[in-house]
Amino acid sequence: MHTLNTLAFLVFPYLALTTSVVGHLYRYISDPYGWNTRSSELLEKKGLKFGITIFHWGIIFTLLGHGVGLLIPQRYWDAVGIDSQTHTVFATYSGALVGAAALLGLCLLIYRRITKERILATTSLNDFVTLGLLFFVVATGTANVFSGLYEHFDILTTVAPWLRGILTLTPDPTLMLQVPLRFKLHILGVLTLIGFWPFSRLVHIWSVPLTYFFRRWIVFRRREISF
Ligand code: HEM
Repeated sequence: MHTLNTLAFLVFPYLALTTSVVGHLYRYISDPYGWNTRSSELLEKKGLKFGITIFHWGIIFTLLGHGVGLLIPQRYWDAVGIDSQTHTVFATYSGALVGAAALLGLCLLIYRRITKERILATTSLNDFVTLGLLFFVVATGTANVFSGLYEHFDILTTVAPWLRGILTLTPDPTLMLQVPLRFKLHILGVLTLIGFWPFSRLVHIWSVPLTYFFRRWIVFRRREISF
């Protein structure tokens, strides 16, 4: 039991993180022109708009929520008057909202990939693996949040310190021993996705076009043709 737990929550996380870091460097150097979203908007626009918008807003706020909620130790929240109960209630309701938005958007994107002929024809196995892994991660995560409405499990003293330990190179896999299977499956899915990330279209998230907001206007004018 302990050996399996050590493999899953000590060895596997570092394997996934190393694969991700080395993989990103390799991909950046070896495939600079493939480092993009592989947008399919030109092939089909109508079915994309709503799904891609709610998926992105949902997943971006979900990631921000994970960062703020899990990486900042509870003692800092206590210091500003937010106790663990308030923290958990806020995380559960906001997580349910953004998780459900991401899940609905993802379902619409998968539906579009399968049902629109032109999109299916340009979808690779890599795209299916990416969307499949994302689906597993978002679905298990959202299910966990909703299950938290009925049955409480304390993440703040188990999963959160385990994650911080991994990131600060002071790992303690025993913190994961009592964690319910449904959380473990979500975490293992996330780690698999992190390892696969550099080999997929997901690399686009590191290239947010922020300069877009600061660049000069591009003025388009109709060309007047005089005869
Ligand atoms: C802040 C950053 C992000 C930006 C600016 C961004 C931008 C984009 C754009 C422009 C597309 C192409 C849409 C199209 O025309 O087909 C796209 C697709 C996609 N993005 Fe993002 N994205 C961001 C973050 C993320 C995150 C955090 C994830 C998931 C963890 C994600 C997952 C995806 C997926 C799976 C697709 C493909 C959907 C499909 O075609 O079926 N993106 N993104």
